[in-house]
Amino acid sequence: MSAMRQAKSEKRVGCGGRRRPRYVLGLMAGTSGDGIDAVCVRIDGRGEDMRVRLVRHDHRPFAAALRRRLMAVMAPAVTRTEEIARLHAELGEAFGVAAHLAIEACDRKQRPTLIGLAGQTVCHLPGSRPGRTVTLQLGDASRVAARSGVVTVSDFRQGDEAAGGQGAPLVPWTDWVLFRNRDRPRIIQNIGGVANLTWLPPGARAEDVVAFDTGPGNMIVDGLVAHVTGGRERMDRDGRRAARGRVLGVVLERWLEHPFLARRPPKTTGREEFGRPFVEAELGRLRRASSLPEDWVATATALTARTIAEACRGCVRCWLRGRGTRPTAADVEQCGLEVIVGGGGAKNPVLMGFLAEELRGCVVHPIDSYGIPSQSKEGISFAMLAAARVDGVPANLPGVTGARGPALMGLICVPPVSRGMC
Ligand SMILES: Nc1ncnc2c1ncn2[C@@H]1O[C@H](COP(=O)(O)OP(=O)(O)O)[C@@H](O)[C@H]1O
Ligand SMILES: [Mg+2]
Repeated sequence: MSAMRQAKSEKRVGCGGRRRPRYVLGLMAGTSGDGIDAVCVRIDGRGEDMRVRLVRHDHRPFAAALRRRLMAVMAPAVTRTEEIARLHAELGEAFGVAAHLAIEACDRKQRPTLIGLAGQTVCHLPGSRPGRTVTLQLGDASRVAARSGVVTVSDFRQGDEAAGGQGAPLVPWTDWVLFRNRDRPRIIQNIGGVANLTWLPPGARAEDVVAFDTGPGNMIVDGLVAHVTGGRERMDRDGRRAARGRVLGVVLERWLEHPFLARRPPKTTGREEFGRPFVEAELGRLRRASSLPEDWVATATALTARTIAEACRGCVRCWLRGRGTRPTAADVEQCGLEVIVGGGGAKNPVLMGFLAEELRGCVVHPIDSYGIPSQSKEGISFAMLAAARVDGVPANLPGVTGARGPALMGLICVPPVSRGMC
């Protein structure tokens, strides 16, 4: 696990000043709405010296009915307060069960004593001015703490928002802790429902980090596959459909005009922009361009790759300009950039192939090559954020979120019968 810098010793400073490793569970559900990831990690050290090692990862798909209801409240549609309240409770139970099972499945000595709960974001509307962002994550932390018997940290975004930030993205601090490198520029690219990157110039200090959403991740591909299969399939498994299709240039060029893509970072996006409404609105254009659904899926896959590559090039250009050069395309290609890809999109070989083609000259690797299974990466980040919270370490990056300053993020929920904080 080269990038994660293996723990050198069993005895490190942990929470409460005790020198021992901690086992922490990251619990999360992303914008894909595919289910719950429960990721158990061993954490040594604290703050920017944290070292992390994966212990186990369990994925539990959502029950079909729960998934449908979640998708319905995530769409920008009218919904009832009662439905939101019910989902908050039901998701809390689902997270609680996932946590309980994951903890039971760990060896006795590796049982997590802390949970970082990301919850399901059903609404995130970044504000144009400090203090104007609104966000809502569902999944009642009290139920998770009660079902698991473990202290649970939740509602990470709100700490940053209270400090005037946008409460997103949350993982850049953890990317910086795990992946900063003295010699090479690196980009940590997550491809979930949405795609987001963290830019780490060589020798990055926390204030040098840039992070933002690059645009759609798997969301449009998933939506198209669900549409053409009448809901029987929900992803382009292993890129099989895209591999049989061809990219529809006219449609791709049109999609690249989407206003989100022209916006300058910091920026975030979600289902509101690239979810079901986008897919439904574009079906006509796709049908006019080709009768083959494989071509539609290939085109959506190419959009994800192109928008990620453009964002990566933009980060490099900006960095080179800051060093007083006027970068050419060749400078960007030859800067030694390493793009480390995580999230479910890293499992799609066609998407990874398009990305490598777009970013010729750069190293493009799945995060698995660095010892972190691509689907575990986000869960690991939330486990780290929970540890930072109980350690009293601010883990927001004000330069990224727009907050007025460092903020402790997360509410700490102690179970009804507490086993203590660590
Ligand atoms: N084997 C695979 N082939 C192609 N795509 C995959 C594969 N496995 C996962 N994915 C994609 O990854 C998505 C889930 O990624 P994930 O990182 O969990 O996203 P999120 O964090 O938004 O839930 C799936 O919806 C699917 O599009
Ligand atoms: Mg997921």
